[in-house]
Amino acid sequence: MSGNRIIHTPEEIVRIRRAAEVTAAVRDEIARLAHPGMTTFDLDQLAGSLITATGGISAFKNYHGYPGNICISVNDTVIHGIGTPEQIISENDIVSIDVGVNIDNAMGDTALTFGFKEPDKDTKRLLDGTRDALMDGIAAARCGAFVRDISAAVEKCARKHKLAIVRDYVGHGCGIKLHEAPEIPNYTGWGKGPRLEPGMVLCIEPMLNLGTDSVRLDRRDHWTVRTADGALSAHFEHMILITDNEPEILTWQKTM
Ligand code: MF3
Ligand code: CO
Ligand code: CO
Repeated sequence: MSGNRIIHTPEEIVRIRRAAEVTAAVRDEIARLAHPGMTTFDLDQLAGSLITATGGISAFKNYHGYPGNICISVNDTVIHGIGTPEQIISENDIVSIDVGVNIDNAMGDTALTFGFKEPDKDTKRLLDGTRDALMDGIAAARCGAFVRDISAAVEKCARKHKLAIVRDYVGHGCGIKLHEAPEIPNYTGWGKGPRLEPGMVLCIEPMLNLGTDSVRLDRRDHWTVRTADGALSAHFEHMILITDNEPEILTWQKTM
């Protein structure tokens, strides 16, 4: 079980690399065009057109029945927020977008959180701390290390910034299917997991909160995950390729 992991072939990696690159470009274009006054539904529709223009399709739409093109998670929403015409984005909001594109039967999956104005001290700590936790997790993903080393690096950084770690959702292998083995928790205490080997493609995605780590699933839509205390949450996600030395960030673009 702990040795469960997928090693992609060079032919698959060509397609996965392309899917990740396309997904990152769409992510950055959505973030660039997002503005206060839009509804989250507008943003989802915009994402839908940008994804269609790539020649791919949303990797999320209809996934286990998910209704949106992307996930849009505002303020206390941690992940899996669904764009709706009633939700108007304000300049005081922080917005997380999580984008997945399926192109040529390969998957990209990447997320980031942003605001529109100079953040207050705690919001800045949340955004910077979550981004740093992702980058520390990536730095630990060296060939020969274990999945646990990624988790430990993310956890240590979250602690340093005094941010709470969401435990109910985790990162994952990715590439040909959206979610592949192994799981990548953002905390330790669960064993070592598999050893990292060249050809593994991993989504590392810390979800960190300013308040409690406990979260609630929306009882009406069964998707939206919010913090239990209503405090802010942030989410950053990159897809990386394990190589025979430093990991390669497949979803690297100028925004992050
Ligand atoms: N993007 C999410 C992840 O990082 C998965 C979203 S699945 C959906 O794993 F159905 F909610 F879109
Ligand atoms: Co994602
Ligand atoms: Co993911």
